[in-house]
Amino acid sequence: MPEFRSVARAAARAQALALAAAALLLCQPAASAQPSGAPPAAPAPDAAAPSPGTGNGILVAYFSHEGHTKALAEIIHAAVGGDIYEIRTEKAYPADHDQAVTVGKEEQAAQARPSLAGNMPDMSKYRTVILGYPIWWGDPPMGVYTFVENNDFSGKTVAPFCTHGGSGLSRSVESLQSKLPGAKVLPGLAVRSGSAASSGDDAREWLQESGIAVRADG
Ligand SMILES: Cc1cc2nc3c(=O)[nH]c(=O)nc-3n(C[C@H](O)[C@H](O)[C@H](O)COP(=O)(O)O)c2cc1C
Repeated sequence: MPEFRSVARAAARAQALALAAAALLLCQPAASAQPSGAPPAAPAPDAAAPSPGTGNGILVAYFSHEGHTKALAEIIHAAVGGDIYEIRTEKAYPADHDQAVTVGKEEQAAQARPSLAGNMPDMSKYRTVILGYPIWWGDPPMGVYTFVENNDFSGKTVAPFCTHGGSGLSRSVESLQSKLPGAKVLPGLAVRSGSAASSGDDAREWLQESGIAVRADG
């Protein structure tokens, strides 16, 4: 049955051609599979960059060793939107509180500027930086100064907040102001460690007094 064989051969050739075409398509880089004129794929997100926010020009940046300032920063971020960024030192502080107290004192005495982990945020995106830290020996931890001195705050408004064990803001706002000559530094918010997680009302009141819009659902 020659007709059958030639039909079968033609079918086999067609199948082989289809398979070859499919294999060729599979070997193409993903970008060339896009229809022409389609926008290029978005770059992979940078894990160290601030979280994607609402693009309202506000950055909540904070350092926290034992979690209290982090809790307050998250409350503030929920209230204002925008981006949130954790300032982290490359070298972690001791988990033991007393040891951390000693290291913090030594760093302050040396006016150390510990290196920070991860990428800095793109400060050009922000008009207002809400800057949080624990009080360490009357001052922000030295890594907060590393952050402040390695970013351009000129023309920005900085609203400082802290958590503390009893000393309030202490001299931290004046110290920060001296390192932020081009910025407008607003009066700060101080919350005791034990109240940080339940300080939403105080935080919202302070934000409103600072002229920072609070979201209705924040
Ligand atoms: C190194 C170090 C120094 C501290 N110095 C002070 C201080 O001078 N005044 C104060 O009220 N609390 C002081 N504390 C307590 C912290 O400010 C307080 O526990 C804060 O809420 C910790 O924030 P965090 O949990 O975000 O790290 C100190 C704590 C540490 C670890």
